[in-house]
Amino acid sequence: MNSKPLIILGSSRKDGHTAKAIDTITGTSPLPFVDLSSLNMTYFDYDFENRADDFIPLMEKVVEHNPLILATPVYWYTMSAVMKTFLDRWSDLLTFRKDLGKKLKGKDLYLITSFGTSMPKGFEEPFIQTADYMGMHFRGCFYFYSGKDPDLMKENERRVKEFKALLKKNGVLSS
Ligand SMILES: Cc1cc2nc3c(=O)[nH]c(=O)nc-3n(C[C@H](O)[C@H](O)[C@H](O)COP(=O)(O)O)c2cc1C
Repeated sequence: MNSKPLIILGSSRKDGHTAKAIDTITGTSPLPFVDLSSLNMTYFDYDFENRADDFIPLMEKVVEHNPLILATPVYWYTMSAVMKTFLDRWSDLLTFRKDLGKKLKGKDLYLITSFGTSMPKGFEEPFIQTADYMGMHFRGCFYFYSGKDPDLMKENERRVKEFKALLKKNGVLSS
């Protein structure tokens, strides 16, 4: 394995369904991990008065990794607010920390999500377009169903197999 993955969790709870989705994929060999909710990361500020919060130190760590695996629940058909705040703050990397923004170029991006009712339409699109804009490569998304419908639960098994196979093929997980 020559990759140095980092999982970036953005959920309103650390031990919820999205964390379970991550565990389903990584099993007994957990990957390096950061929990956005544990950080002091405020909304994007046009005046950059929040430049001293936890975002820049986080990104200094993030750029040392490849691939990046973003993990977010589906909240109201889209990513969680904390994940959106994290991505909004990438605008800092286009202004006063362009050096960090440039380091994202060429990295692979994966997405893990959990949903409770139905597969959201167009969920991956903001991530695909963000990756394109930053010169990253969007490699795929794992949808984990966290509800109780037996048929939808069965589909999880197939999706777990597919996503693990993708990560193994790309050298992110060892086989
Ligand atoms: C605020 C909120 C909004 C939600 N919106 C959706 C939704 O649009 N579609 C869906 O399938 N599930 C929705 N759910 C269910 C969550 O996606 C699901 O329970 C998910 O697995 C929660 O992950 P977590 O434990 O990491 O928060 C929502 C849950 C919350 C709390």
